[in-house]
Parts: sequence; structure tokens; C-alpha cells
Amino acid sequence: MPFANMRDRLIYLAVWFACLGPILWFIFQGFTDDLGANPIEYIIRQLGVWGLRLLMVSLAITPAAKLLRQPRLIRYRRTVGLWAFAYIALHLSTYVGIDHFFNWPEIGKDILKRPYITIGMTAFVLLVPLAVTSTNGMLRRLGPKNWKRLHQLVYVIVPLGVTHYYLLVKKDVRPPVVYGVIVTILLGYRLYAWARQRRERALKAAAKAAA
Ligand code: HEM
Repeated sequence: MPFANMRDRLIYLAVWFACLGPILWFIFQGFTDDLGANPIEYIIRQLGVWGLRLLMVSLAITPAAKLLRQPRLIRYRRTVGLWAFAYIALHLSTYVGIDHFFNWPEIGKDILKRPYITIGMTAFVLLVPLAVTSTNGMLRRLGPKNWKRLHQLVYVIVPLGVTHYYLLVKKDVRPPVVYGVIVTILLGYRLYAWARQRRERALKAAAKAAA
């Protein structure tokens, strides 16, 4: 555990168990026969939606840390991001192994034919390098600049996840639209912060040149 004091360790454990919570809940629902009429569809959907929620939480941590002036929050971003990856990997595994019984030709056809699967798969493929490079060793190897650049892929992955969701719902599009609005606000904040930082840097450089 990368935290020195007790309070931070407790927060880390709380974050870890909060991320694990939904899976424990599905297991409980399984034991109590509460997974509905189509348990496979229910599990695929729940894993997908929790994966998306956690990706969005990981995206919200930096703005929250800045707005609340709590830079320590950033420490939990990696844990949440890795849990998001775990949910989405389980989402994909349930689809491949339980829904399609590893029928690769059929899965291949699905990826090519159904736009929501194509987009989900693209998001997953982009997510893999982020999970693989999430260790301190990989951060050192890539260097902070390249690492940061690579991890900006999340700005593409999350909108792809929302689009995947939007395309697959048949009737009520309100939930994916709400997720889309939240993601737009989160990405809009990033864009605003980036533009402001750039402007400040340009003003400083101009002041230095004029001095
Ligand atoms: C970043 C990647 C992904 C995210 C964030 C994601 C998210 C979601 C969400 C939010 C749902 C809908 C949940 C609901 O209705 O409550 C869903 C459903 C689904 N996803 Fe994904 N997904 C991703 C990748 C994939 C991949 C790679 C596949 C398979 C190749 C896949 C296959 C499915 C299927 C089959 C459903 C259920 C469709 C249905 O019941 O009609 N997803 N996903």
C-alpha cells in the first residue's frame, strides 16, 4: 500500500472496498436468486454500467481535487481507474465466455456488424495500455510526459463508452444522455483548465520578454 499514515491507508481501503462493493452485491444477488429473468444480460449490463461509472469517477478526481483544494485525492485515481478496467474486462469476459461461449467467428461478426460492439471494443482496446502502464515502474520507464500523454486516452475512452451505451439502449435513452452530459461537463472543465494554463504561461512569457 503506497500510503505512509493510518488515515490515508484507511481512506485507501475504503476506496478499494467501495469499488469492490458492486461485485459483492452481484454475488449476493446470485446467491439469493435475485438476478432477474435474464441473469447473463443483467450481469453484463451491471458490469458495463459500473465500469463506466468508475471511469467517470476517475475522470472527476482531478477537477474535484483542484476545486476542493485537496491534492491528496489524486492518489486514489489509479485505484479507481484500475477497478474500472477490472469491471470492463469482466464485462467483456462475460460477453465472450458466457454469452457467446467463446464462439470467435460469431464474436468477430458481432464486432463488425453491430456499431455498439465495435465502439465498446475500441474503447476496451484503448483502455488496455492504460491498465498495463499504471505501475510506478512503467511511469518511470515512459517518463512523466509520455505517461501523461498516453493516459490522456481516457478523454477518448469515456465518450466512446457513453456512445456504446447510447447505441445499445432500445427505448429509454435518458440514462446514457445523463452520463453524456456529466462527461461533457468533466471534459469541458479539463479543456477550460488547459486553456487557462496556456494563457497564463503565454502572459508570463510575454512579461519576461518585456522585462
Ligand atoms: C470501455 C468499454 C466499455 C464500457 C464503458 C461499456 C459500458 C456498457 C454499458 C454502460 C452498458 C449498458 C448497461 C445498462 O444497460 O445498464 C453496456 C452493455 C453492453 N456491453 Fe459494454 N462497455 C464497454 C465495452 C464493451 C465490450 C468490449 C463489449 C463486447 C465486445 C461490450 C458488450 C456489451 C453488451 C453485449 C452489452 C449489453 C447489451 C444488451 O443487453 O443489449 N461492451 N456496456
